[in-house]
Amino acid sequence: MKSALLKVENLSKTYTPGELVWGNVGFDLAKGDFLYILGGSGAGKSSLLRILASFENPSQGRVLCHGVDLQDSSRTDLERVRKRVAYIPQNLGLIRDLTIHDHIEMTQSMVPSGDRLDLASLQGYLKLMNLEDKWNKKVGVLSGGERQRVAILRALCRKTDLIIADEPTGAQDFEMTWKLMDLFVKLNLTGTTMLLATHDLEMVRRLRKRCAILKDGTFKVEDRV
Ligand SMILES: Nc1ncnc2c1ncn2[C@@H]1O[C@H](COP(=O)(O)OP(=O)(O)OP(=O)(O)O)[C@@H](O)[C@H]1O
Ligand SMILES: [Mg+2]
Repeated sequence: MKSALLKVENLSKTYTPGELVWGNVGFDLAKGDFLYILGGSGAGKSSLLRILASFENPSQGRVLCHGVDLQDSSRTDLERVRKRVAYIPQNLGLIRDLTIHDHIEMTQSMVPSGDRLDLASLQGYLKLMNLEDKWNKKVGVLSGGERQRVAILRALCRKTDLIIADEPTGAQDFEMTWKLMDLFVKLNLTGTTMLLATHDLEMVRRLRKRCAILKDGTFKVEDRV
């Protein structure tokens, strides 16, 4: 049996007392798994992903990543786990006045050189994402789709073993969506675990993977949708 890289136990989230966003969320992800998180707008995909990426606390339950309890661990352990997780937030979290180069340099400076993506692969990703000519442009002047690709590039510019992506292709055209999905699949095939939130059922039908559905506050893992 594969050991769990991410273990989610009986999570629930409430922002306003008496208003449960979702409850009873539990599942395991092992190395090399791929799981979609599906659900309509407001179903709670982003709040779940923020919690799994350790940027928000659940109201109940616990999340273990590499055996580290995200809500109850030392700062050092949490930082160690965060270095092994790539999170692509829905709001991207970029800094408008910094260039693509600045974002990549800043991210890579936080990890040992052995954990940085090699230059050839980085250049390959820049080309694939049509960002080669924008390397020294400030993020604030880029298009919405370009900005989203910068957030993806930033997540991929260091070696990680879990990618948590919140609607990572929501602002992309058809061709770019599939280039990026191909890239995620390739990374997954080489052992990177993928957790991808979307409400794009067409994507799920084209690229069949295990699905978890958030609906009316409940969470259910299904093999098919
Ligand atoms: N910080 C917050 N404070 C209060 N309520 C919040 C907060 N964040 C999210 N919510 C509420 O939780 C619910 C789920 O929001 P969430 O952003 O997780 O949904 P989503 O499934 O990601 O939606 P979308 O597909 O539109 O991105 C919404 O009703 C939202 O208003
Ligand atoms: Mg969302």
